[in-house]
Amino acid sequence: MTTSRQVLLLVGSARRPRSTSEALGSYLLERLAEKGFGTETLLLHRALKSGEKREALLEATDRADVLVVAFPLYVDSLPSLVIRALELIADHREGGDQSRPQRLLAIVNCGFPEAQHNDTAIAICRRFAREAGFEWIGGLSLGGGGAISGRPLAEAGGMARNPIQSLELTAAAIAEGGALPEEAVEAMARSIIPSWAYRWMGWFGWRQQARKHGVQRQL
Ligand SMILES: Cc1cc2nc3c(=O)[nH]c(=O)nc-3n(C[C@H](O)[C@H](O)[C@H](O)COP(=O)(O)O)c2cc1C
Repeated sequence: MTTSRQVLLLVGSARRPRSTSEALGSYLLERLAEKGFGTETLLLHRALKSGEKREALLEATDRADVLVVAFPLYVDSLPSLVIRALELIADHREGGDQSRPQRLLAIVNCGFPEAQHNDTAIAICRRFAREAGFEWIGGLSLGGGGAISGRPLAEAGGMARNPIQSLELTAAAIAEGGALPEEAVEAMARSIIPSWAYRWMGWFGWRQQARKHGVQRQL
């Protein structure tokens, strides 16, 4: 059964030119486009800039059958860009006609290697869906997002294997009209790189930056 045809991706990362949030969301949209969905992507750091753009964001949200909110974890929660967008959408929908089913899922990635850091942010999105009249179909949680570092998943090699598997399953579930299967949630949460290797990369990057700025002796 394929009845819902339009999917909107909201990217909540302020990182430019590319973010892991966008890489994950785009991969999902590409799979959905192959399944016949119309797709649209809005980068929130641009989409919230003026009244006109905010209006366009709300119109795009109204058109969407499936809303995908992809963002990085900031201080154990949602980035302010995402909070602002969700508040605007909730206000806009209050008292409106919500008889047309619209589905929502969240994709959250964090810097620490463990995906559980994203649990609270996912719970906030689930609560938002309920209060703003969306059908919550699930949340995907990636740890160690820095290892992808905004690269398109197709170019990220073996590290992207689990996220790709998760997003393929997610696309199939959306096309079927169902909620995200547990297998998709588990695949996204699986470590994409051994914790020790990720920590070593972080340490190495930190030292390199210090050297670049001439402060390595102050670490
Ligand atoms: C302001 C700020 C706060 C952050 N807070 C957290 C945090 O609480 N926990 C965590 O694991 N990562 C945290 N991170 C790291 C990001 O979640 C991580 O780098 C992520 O992969 C960035 O994804 P993006 O490329 O989609 O922006 C923070 C990053 C920034 C810039």
